[in-house]
Amino acid sequence: MGPPGAGKGTQAQLMEESFRLQPVSPGDLLRREVHQGTSLGRQAQEFMDAGQLVPDSIILRLVAAELDRLEPSRGFLFDGFPRSSSQAAQLDKLLSERSRGIACVILLELEDAAILGRLSLRRVCPACARSYHLEQNPPRVEGQCDDDGTSLIQRSDDREEVIGKRLEVYHQSTAPVVEHYRQQGLVRAIDASQAIETVREQVAEILGACLF
Ligand code: AP5
Repeated sequence: MGPPGAGKGTQAQLMEESFRLQPVSPGDLLRREVHQGTSLGRQAQEFMDAGQLVPDSIILRLVAAELDRLEPSRGFLFDGFPRSSSQAAQLDKLLSERSRGIACVILLELEDAAILGRLSLRRVCPACARSYHLEQNPPRVEGQCDDDGTSLIQRSDDREEVIGKRLEVYHQSTAPVVEHYRQQGLVRAIDASQAIETVREQVAEILGACLF
């Protein structure tokens, strides 16, 4: 968990490689629907472009389908889910139906002031969802994804006015969910203003302790 631009997607991808965890990212799933021009994608885009949460009915359908599609014997790494108290309750239900539970909640903490710089210089691959930063984490070839060579794009919700709204929604709807998990003793916080590699080492240490 963590605010927009804290590095959730970047770290989820690194942990997928190190721990064979399967990322479940509603943001990526939604962008894939938008990219494919599906009716669900068209419904979701309006909310995403406004920096608001997409309705739970859409998110829960996507997450449940993804859990059914993925390999059940490997763990899941949720990125950007749950984002509200109602989603947290639904996640408990989805997991208990599959006899699974939450091992830990990793919180990437980053001040609002640092977020704009990160997001305005972010570029993403529309095909595989990998994200880059023009200064901190650039692609090997300018403008092209390292993995598949697709031309990188700027996300439509990485505009200054939308970033402000996304931050507001994070503080209002998602921060209380962090508190809910903190009371259960599940939260491990990391200073996400550190270098990507330093954050990666700390996330890996926490996951190693939680999972094994
Ligand atoms: P989503 O895609 O989940 O966006 P987000 O939570 O706002 O997070 P971001 O993807 O912007 O940031 P990130 O933390 O993954 O950072 P990243 O690793 O890319 O959601 C988008 C929208 O979808 C929502 O607004 C909503 O409309 C909808 N949605 C999604 N989930 C939903 C849900 N559960 N319910 C309802 N609606 C939902 O890194 C950012 C940049 O910084 C990159 O350029 C990266 O290279 C760079 N970077 C990363 N780490 C570092 C570092 N340590 N130092 C320097 N640069 C770094």
